[in-house]
Amino acid sequence: MSAVPPVPPSSRIVAVTSGKGGVGKTFVSANLAAALARAGRRVLVLDADLGLANLDVVLNLFPKITLHDVFTGKSSLADAILPAPGGFSVLLAGSGMVEYSRMTPEVRDQLQAVISEVAPQFDHVLLDTGAGISDVVLYTVSLAGEVLLVVTPEPTSLTDGYATIKVLATTQGRRHMHLLVNHARKSGEGRAVRQQLQQVVERYVNPGLDRPVRLDLLGEIPSDAAVRECVQRRQLLLEVLPGVPAAQAMVAAATRWLASTP
Ligand SMILES: Nc1ncnc2c1ncn2[C@@H]1O[C@H](COP(=O)(O)OP(=O)(O)OP(=O)(O)O)[C@@H](O)[C@H]1O
Ligand SMILES: [Mg+2]
Repeated sequence: MSAVPPVPPSSRIVAVTSGKGGVGKTFVSANLAAALARAGRRVLVLDADLGLANLDVVLNLFPKITLHDVFTGKSSLADAILPAPGGFSVLLAGSGMVEYSRMTPEVRDQLQAVISEVAPQFDHVLLDTGAGISDVVLYTVSLAGEVLLVVTPEPTSLTDGYATIKVLATTQGRRHMHLLVNHARKSGEGRAVRQQLQQVVERYVNPGLDRPVRLDLLGEIPSDAAVRECVQRRQLLLEVLPGVPAAQAMVAAATRWLASTP
C-alpha cells in the first residue's frame, strides 16, 4: 500500500465495541450505517472482527475479496470495498482465520493504512469490532476517533462494559464514549443503564484521572423479535421492516449521532 493520506476532520471514525460478546454490535453497525446512508451520508462499515467476521452473513453477501486479500497484496483496496444493501459500503473480513487472533506488527500497520486510506472517501467509518479487551480489539479501537459502546441491561454485560470503559480510559485516555443500550426491556431503561454505569465510573474510575469520563446515551434499542427474524433471513432490518420498534430506535440513534460532536 502506498503513502497514507491524511484523514480530513470531517471524517468520523467510530469503533462499535463491547465488553461482552453477542450484545448486538454487528446488528447496530449495519443498521446505523443504513440509517446514516438514508440521511445522505457516505458510510463505510469495516468488519474489524478480522478472524471471526459476521457482517457478510448479516448482509447476505458472499465476498470474493476481503481485507485478507488486501493485507496479503492479492487485491487492491478499491476492489475490496463493496456495496451493501442499505446504501452503504463495506470492507469484509474472513472467518476462522487464526492468524488474526493476535495483532502482529504487520497487521497493525496494514489495518491502520487501510483505515487512513478509506476515511477521506466517507463521512462516517464504522469499525465493527470483536468483543472484549484483547490486544486485537483494543488496537482497533485505538484507530477510531470515537467509541460507541454497546451494552445490554444484563448484569454480565454491564460488568464487562464497565471493564471496557475503565481500560479505554486508562490505556487510551478516552474521556468520552457514546453508549447504546440494546435489548432494552422497557422504555427509559437506556437512561437508567447509562446513569448506573456513569455512577460506577464516577466512583471507581474518575478519581484517578485528570479529566472525568463522560458517557453519552446515543439510544436504547428494544428487544424485538423482528431483529432475530431478520438475522435469520439474512436481511437488513432497516430495509425490510423499517417500521418496527427496533428499526425506529436505530433511526433515532442515527439522528442523535449526527447531532453529536466527535
Ligand atoms: N434488539 C434486539 N432484539 C432482538 N434480538 C437482537 C437484538 N439485537 C441483537 N439481537 C440478536 O442477537 C444476535 C447477536 O447480535 P450481533 O451478532 O449483532 O452481536 P455482536 O455483538 O456483533 O456479537 P459478537 O460479539 O459475536 O460480534 C443477533 O443475531 C440477533 O439475533
Ligand atoms: Mg459481531
